[in-house]
Amino acid sequence: MKDTCNWDMRSDTMTKPTQEMLQAMVQAPVGDDASGEDPTVRALEERVAQLCGKPAALFCASSTMSNQLAIRTHLRDPPESLVCHLQSHIFQYESGGASLHSQAQMIPVKPNEGVNLTRGDIEKVFVSDPYGGHKAPTHLVVLENTFSGVVMPFEDMREIKEFAREKRVAVHLDGARLWNASVAAGVEIRQYADCVDSLNLCLSKSMGCPVGAMLVGSTEFIEKARHFRKVFGGGWRQAGVLAAAGLFAIDRIWPTMADTHRRTKRLADGLVALGFELALPVHTNMVLVRSPKAVINTQQALIDALRPRGVVLGNFYEGSLRIVLHHQINDRCIDIVLEEAQKIANGSEMNVVNG
Ligand SMILES: Cc1ncc(COP(=O)(O)O)c(C=O)c1O
Repeated sequence: MKDTCNWDMRSDTMTKPTQEMLQAMVQAPVGDDASGEDPTVRALEERVAQLCGKPAALFCASSTMSNQLAIRTHLRDPPESLVCHLQSHIFQYESGGASLHSQAQMIPVKPNEGVNLTRGDIEKVFVSDPYGGHKAPTHLVVLENTFSGVVMPFEDMREIKEFAREKRVAVHLDGARLWNASVAAGVEIRQYADCVDSLNLCLSKSMGCPVGAMLVGSTEFIEKARHFRKVFGGGWRQAGVLAAAGLFAIDRIWPTMADTHRRTKRLADGLVALGFELALPVHTNMVLVRSPKAVINTQQALIDALRPRGVVLGNFYEGSLRIVLHHQINDRCIDIVLEEAQKIANGSEMNVVNG
């Protein structure tokens, strides 16, 4: 692709549609999707459902909408609760939507060990019994993969699926970046999808689309979610213009993801070799850089040094500087980050705080 130079590493949402993607959007056949008449939306929904090995999919405006529709569709009999990761997007960053839209109590859990939730973590907080009416029974488990770029082990997902089956509750996967997990772990999307009842896949993050996310599940589930999407104001019209970007991304951008992961690893290894510390293992497209012992604010020094060189950093996650790669980050950009990091490590650009 020609016009792929975009060195904004704050997030993989910072991609811009390429000329080729825009061409695909302009040329897309369209119709009224609210009446089920947009052929490009239908093609995208069928394509993603097939990729997931599930009967149906729904094109949504965002991953937040897709996750919230999933929760609303699974939880039909309040008062109910759902179990999720303490740092999950649905708990931390969806504006309390599960409480507002679905009257759900969220039970956030911190993993006992490691980064992702395991069956044991979920078992501990799961509410099987309303306890004389004092508790909200758990009817949904929500997982996130990748979690801050870290791939959830497939075996853990399988064990959680078994547990949910025993308890007869649903599992929803926020797989905003499941595209990355699949590429990094060599596990097919449909294998992950087989562990859950519904899943969200984002198109506007590492896939490089301007808009969109896919909710995937059974035919009955997606029909109900489609009805709720209308209630949420998400019944759109000639959305094929946007769906065309999604089809383009699956064919043309997803296959480049392994390169993005290789660049991410090169960046992470280079930073570690220079003495920088990482907060989480690097599996996919994210590097979380710690500031060692708060003596030297290496994070701010890196942000400041890179800005004049055209590289944008600046998002923090739990005290770590989050560097995110996407398909428009090239090798030259990684070279520049490592050059500036080297200068900081050598002390020439150090920004000393606290004396
Ligand atoms: C894991 C995860 N899920 C869901 C979302 C929500 O996506 P959006 O902001 O596009 O609604 C995000 C956004 O960053 C995310 O990282």
